[in-house]
Amino acid sequence: MVADLSRMRRDYATRGLREDDLAGTWVEQFDRWFADAVAAELPEPNAVVVATADADGAPDARIVLVKGYDEAGFVFATSYASAKGAQLAVNPRAALVFPWHALQRQVRVTGRVERVGEAASDDLWDPRPRGAQLAAAASVQSTTVDSRAELVERLRRLDAETPEDEKLPRPAVWGGYRVVPDSVEFWQGGADRLHDRLRFVRDDAEGGGWFVQRLAP
Ligand SMILES: Cc1cc2nc3c(=O)[nH]c(=O)nc-3n(C[C@H](O)[C@H](O)[C@H](O)COP(=O)(O)O)c2cc1C
Repeated sequence: MVADLSRMRRDYATRGLREDDLAGTWVEQFDRWFADAVAAELPEPNAVVVATADADGAPDARIVLVKGYDEAGFVFATSYASAKGAQLAVNPRAALVFPWHALQRQVRVTGRVERVGEAASDDLWDPRPRGAQLAAAASVQSTTVDSRAELVERLRRLDAETPEDEKLPRPAVWGGYRVVPDSVEFWQGGADRLHDRLRFVRDDAEGGGWFVQRLAP
């Protein structure tokens, strides 16, 4: 073994997460924890790992920034023509992990994925800085390129073609996805590895209701 990390662990002596502390809905609970993550000044608390799989079930994962959440789910913006876009086209399901190490917490989400629609995608596109719009518009995410110089040149050309005061149109392949949760797990590290895991699970039989399970750590 090149590096032995087997002794690298922290004891998670925190207040834990008990059923009595849990909010009534996953979104209220997420709200609380997200506020804690912001208050703790975690770097990019809205950065989330998104796992997808292709038609053969081969997994893939990457980080994106969550642009918003509500009872309907978590929204992020990307290219529909990217690798993740191709995977979601054939297998519209994803898992998310918010890795809030400094708080000894993670939130795990599973669910189906849908596109947010044109108007909502425009709302995600419009506030992006011009540089980010240019970069998204000048290249097709996840395709191979011959060189960085080629990308820079494409970007420069698009920049020159579009006057500064003119809005860059949203590329048709760029937009938002919503992960509609069917489970949301709140994981709190505990002392002596007796971590707390409470999971909201959508109860399809109950017409969209939710129930909570405790999971062994
Ligand atoms: C902190 C961070 C935030 C990112 N945010 C986004 C994002 O919001 N949307 C996006 O498409 N890619 C984002 N990326 C880049 C992705 O991780 C990834 O490289 C890209 O989406 C292509 O992924 P794919 O080839 O699996 O489709 C981010 C990367 C990091 C490290």
